[in-house]
Amino acid sequence: RRVAVVFGGRSSEHGISCVTAAGVLTALDRDRWDVVPVGITPEGRWVLVDDDPGRLALVDGTLPSVDAADGPGVLAPRSPVEPSLTVLADGEVPRALGAVDVVLPLLHGPFGEDGTLQGMLELSDTRYVGSGVLASALAMDKHYAKVVLAAAGVEVGPWVVLTDRAWREDPAGRLDAVLATAADAGASVVFVKPCRAGSSMGVSRVVLPDDAASARSALAAAVEAAREHDPKVLVEVATPGRELECGVLEVPGGGAPEASVVGEVAVTDGRAFYDFEAKYLDPHAVALTCPADVDDATAEAVRATALRSFEALGCEGLARVDVFVEPDGRVLVNEVNTMPGFTPSSMFPRLWEASGVGYPQLVDRLLELALE
Ligand code: DAL
Ligand code: MG
Repeated sequence: RRVAVVFGGRSSEHGISCVTAAGVLTALDRDRWDVVPVGITPEGRWVLVDDDPGRLALVDGTLPSVDAADGPGVLAPRSPVEPSLTVLADGEVPRALGAVDVVLPLLHGPFGEDGTLQGMLELSDTRYVGSGVLASALAMDKHYAKVVLAAAGVEVGPWVVLTDRAWREDPAGRLDAVLATAADAGASVVFVKPCRAGSSMGVSRVVLPDDAASARSALAAAVEAAREHDPKVLVEVATPGRELECGVLEVPGGGAPEASVVGEVAVTDGRAFYDFEAKYLDPHAVALTCPADVDDATAEAVRATALRSFEALGCEGLARVDVFVEPDGRVLVNEVNTMPGFTPSSMFPRLWEASGVGYPQLVDRLLELALE
């Protein structure tokens, strides 16, 4: 069977997607899968790239990227490609993808994990791994994800949304809404995030100064930083909970989705939160513990919440659900990732490894699910 592995893309998580692709390209069983690696440049050009996972690795803190000079025409001999596929002009992309049995969209962030690519694949009647248009779009937008999760009875923490229009028309009013929400929750720390981004890009942790004027100006600076990534901004009230993550995977044959063991993210002393550097560039900045050192009841509560979130958003295939477990035992969902980081050392594959599903098996299972 022929699988197109699509990676890179127009989002700020371009490099992470390349690293994810390196892991998957290494793991794919070439006796079973005829692999067509398709890179999308940061500008959005689709190119057939050299099937050499080494070139996509993270080396000395530098993230790889897809360059238009990478293709077409530099495919490895094991990936014979039909003539139509080498033409990746805009209008040709859907037709070219129709020449494969299944697409593995290893894209993180907007223009890939957000339903846009999924819509194109639906239009061209091409099978693909993972969630469809609506679930992808909902999970990508941290505001709408919370709205839908809360409506389904899944607990989420207090938040305030700053739409582009509201921010431009009444910034002072929105800042006051944030301060009021934080005060209601008895919190002095908030996270300011682009609504639709990932890997902590554009995220600030703001310790609110006591006087309102200083608090407003600290918040405004964080909002502007988030707006560099998305004109729609979300402010979440920080909670004292432990940061736990759980993988969800569908079962071939239409059985109920399964939840993995639970893992924990703990940043080392001196680092304020699980930011981009801690995620990808500084291996000493974070401890990922898998399985997490939590009691059975807590693990079960997190797993149940992950499954409910998957169902509530209408996810398909896979997701990683990130939660906070509060000191009083409540499980608050932070976010749902429909294409979680997927290098062999990423949390999602590690959660499944610890649950008895190895990395190559995991990739195979996702492809089989998409082909059902
Ligand atoms: N957005 C990154 C890739 C993650 O959630 O793992
Ligand atoms: Mg996350």
